[in-house]
Amino acid sequence: MNLILLGAPGAGKGTQAERLVAERGLVQLSTGDMLRAAVAAGTEIGRRAEAIMNSGELVSDEIVVGIISDRIDQPDCEKGFILDGFPRNTAQAEALDKMLAEKGKQLDLVIEVRVDEKILFDRIRTRAAEAGDGAVRADDNEETLRKRLDVYHEQTAPLLPYYQAQGKVRSVDGMQPIETVGAEIKEILDRL
Ligand code: AP5
Repeated sequence: MNLILLGAPGAGKGTQAERLVAERGLVQLSTGDMLRAAVAAGTEIGRRAEAIMNSGELVSDEIVVGIISDRIDQPDCEKGFILDGFPRNTAQAEALDKMLAEKGKQLDLVIEVRVDEKILFDRIRTRAAEAGDGAVRADDNEETLRKRLDVYHEQTAPLLPYYQAQGKVRSVDGMQPIETVGAEIKEILDRL
């Protein structure tokens, strides 16, 4: 089973992806986590991505499409994967469709996690406050979150009609407790 978790910054994509890893043995493919690891390791990709991520803009399509394509080829992805934070715009979605077709794979479902903006600000504020010294994400502040949300509305939200046209979107209310959101996602996947 190959899935996309789609939602605004702080909607709970990573949280729900981790649950699906534990429950279903799927592999979580988070472009944000992969890019942060590249920044921490000081790789060429990390150096190219760091300032862009800290500004709340999107890293180039070429970088993230390459990372995802290579990762999907790894044997552990055979049993299925959850794309968390990818695709982020229509060009990435088109590249994904093409890539999956070439690899003989398919996308089964897109789960949209819906959360109101005010709650997103509360969550990111809380996460930043609870992170220890030096562990706060560089993009977890009000100004950058505002930019991340603008980018989401302009570039990522158009993926909803893109995947609705393929009949693949299911939406959940991401403002419920984590367990309840997880239970709704489970129900959707059990019906597949
Ligand atoms: P990325 O790492 O993908 O960040 P994001 O989309 O902004 O999302 P977050 O990771 O902040 O939120 P989430 O939805 O995963 O929520 P989470 O579970 O963490 O991207 C970062 C940057 O990398 C981008 O801005 C861009 O520069 C670059 N990038 C990444 N992918 C890219 C791509 N494909 N193309 C180009 N650039 C790319 O939860 C958030 C908080 O809320 C947590 O504290 C959690 O505990 C809490 N929470 C979660 N669910 C609930 C709930 N139901 N109730 C209460 N609290 C909850």
